[in-house]
Amino acid sequence: MNRIKFILTLTIFVIFCSCKDNPASPTGIVTDKAMVVSAREEASKIGSDIMQKGGNAFDAMVGTQLALAVSYPRAGNISGGGFMVYRNANGEIGSLDFREKAPKSAYRDMYLDSLGNVIPNMSTLGATSVGVPGSVAGIIEVHKKFGKLPLKDIFEPVIVMAENGVIVTAKQAEMLDNYREVFIKVNGDSTKFASVYKEGEVIKYPKLAQTLRTIAEKGRDGFYKGEVAQKLASFIQANGGFVTEEDLANYQAVWRKPITFKYRDLNIISMGPPSSGGVTMNQIFEMIEPYDISSYGHNSEKTIQLFTEASRRAYADRNFYLGDPDFVEIPLDVLLEDNYMKQRMSDFSFEKATKSEDVSHGEVEIVESMETTHYSIVDTDGNAVSVTTTLNGNFGSKLYSDELGFFLNNEMDDFSSKAGVPNMFGLVGAEANSIEAEKRMLSSMTPTIVERDGNLWMVVGTPGGSTIITAVAQTILNGYEFKMSMQDAVNAPRFHHQWLPDMVIFEPDGFSPTLIEDLKSKGYIINEERTPIIGKVDAIRVLSNGKLEGGADKRGDDAAVGF
Ligand code: DON
Repeated sequence: MNRIKFILTLTIFVIFCSCKDNPASPTGIVTDKAMVVSAREEASKIGSDIMQKGGNAFDAMVGTQLALAVSYPRAGNISGGGFMVYRNANGEIGSLDFREKAPKSAYRDMYLDSLGNVIPNMSTLGATSVGVPGSVAGIIEVHKKFGKLPLKDIFEPVIVMAENGVIVTAKQAEMLDNYREVFIKVNGDSTKFASVYKEGEVIKYPKLAQTLRTIAEKGRDGFYKGEVAQKLASFIQANGGFVTEEDLANYQAVWRKPITFKYRDLNIISMGPPSSGGVTMNQIFEMIEPYDISSYGHNSEKTIQLFTEASRRAYADRNFYLGDPDFVEIPLDVLLEDNYMKQRMSDFSFEKATKSEDVSHGEVEIVESMETTHYSIVDTDGNAVSVTTTLNGNFGSKLYSDELGFFLNNEMDDFSSKAGVPNMFGLVGAEANSIEAEKRMLSSMTPTIVERDGNLWMVVGTPGGSTIITAVAQTILNGYEFKMSMQDAVNAPRFHHQWLPDMVIFEPDGFSPTLIEDLKSKGYIINEERTPIIGKVDAIRVLSNGKLEGGADKRGDDAAVGF
């Protein structure tokens, strides 16, 4: 009898354990040892080839970043910035901040007119919106610290791709078409992208190839000093912008301590300030942890309510407290403290929506959706790299240097130009994110790595402006709480709330009319028109047999490549 009881208990225990860990069968591409998932197959392949030639994940990071600058010019860049989070095979973790910064001549009210009103377009369009680029400093720094292959060997296939050209995809042709008028407005009608490019056509980038050659030869000085720096600074200034040669020469990427936190048996490693990603995601997870969210079901009414209310409260803190840690005191010890977050959720009820005006004040409107890009990498040794990089808006400031072959960022708009006035993501900033000379603007980019039971489990991130943080958090929850494969977790419909404006944004078609009506009846303001997509997640999951499953977002031309 005792034996039967024992076997029964053991069986129940085994079923319970396997249910909890339930490794969902992969539905994305699976490879044995190494993988890159990025916004373009050409870029993922260049990264993967680098690893096949003996390079590690960091060499692949350099190659993928550059390859995206060529093949995905709306967001891939050498003239923007970004963040990298890494976890080495031995468990060591870290992060690199290669975020753009304000030029030395920048000041608090630089985008305000004499009446104190924000001057339309000044922080978003053309040379005045350009921040000092960080991407080249970032890749050179990564290579210096961790690279295995010579820099020139990593650059070479990218230069060849730039010279031979890249095929225009259907999505890209549409995008270039949509922006042609504004490219001409900013750059004149002889600029490269004044031409019409059709799907299937090949665009060659000889000028960019030349710039890349200079960087391959001279390293960071190939971009921040000498001929490229001179041409870049004079080009920006000739168009009315503020970045000088001195600003370029002074730019430094910074190694920072990542934000790490536990969620049940996961250990989540993400980017700290000047990105808000890690802190805000930490708050959201901490606020939902006391609830049995998996029993509510994926994208169920209760799950959406819980996640929305946690996000509302976390974004209210984000917008008030966060900024460049080298310039502002951020009370991280309080913001990330258990009791503080419990108290923040103490007025939450499943009966009715909280009003954002009761969390804080403000009336704002979201204008347009923008573009950034994320890539995830795992190498044959198990080193993992998670990078989100951006020009901010689609094609950044739209200012294109025909001489050097790239678009310039419009990252200055990520500052709060005026307290209480929303930026292009509808984010309402405060003093902590006001403009100061050489300060970094607050970001939402959330490159993330997740450990499960102490082992590498997921590498994840996405573009999407202010929606980045919630999209990353939902992808992790999809995999962990709702037991989806990596590809399904990435493809699943997403929703978003950011405190202000006080609305829940849903991807159209992903949610039933009954669900939407039920949420409305509880006081939630719903918006399904604002954006056709929320984020474009590129992620990798390590399977229990050590193989890798890619999650390349179906919303774009994204692709997983590996071996
Ligand atoms: O750093 C940030 O938060 C923004 N500049 C990111 C922009 C972005 O994701 C646009 N993408 N859709």
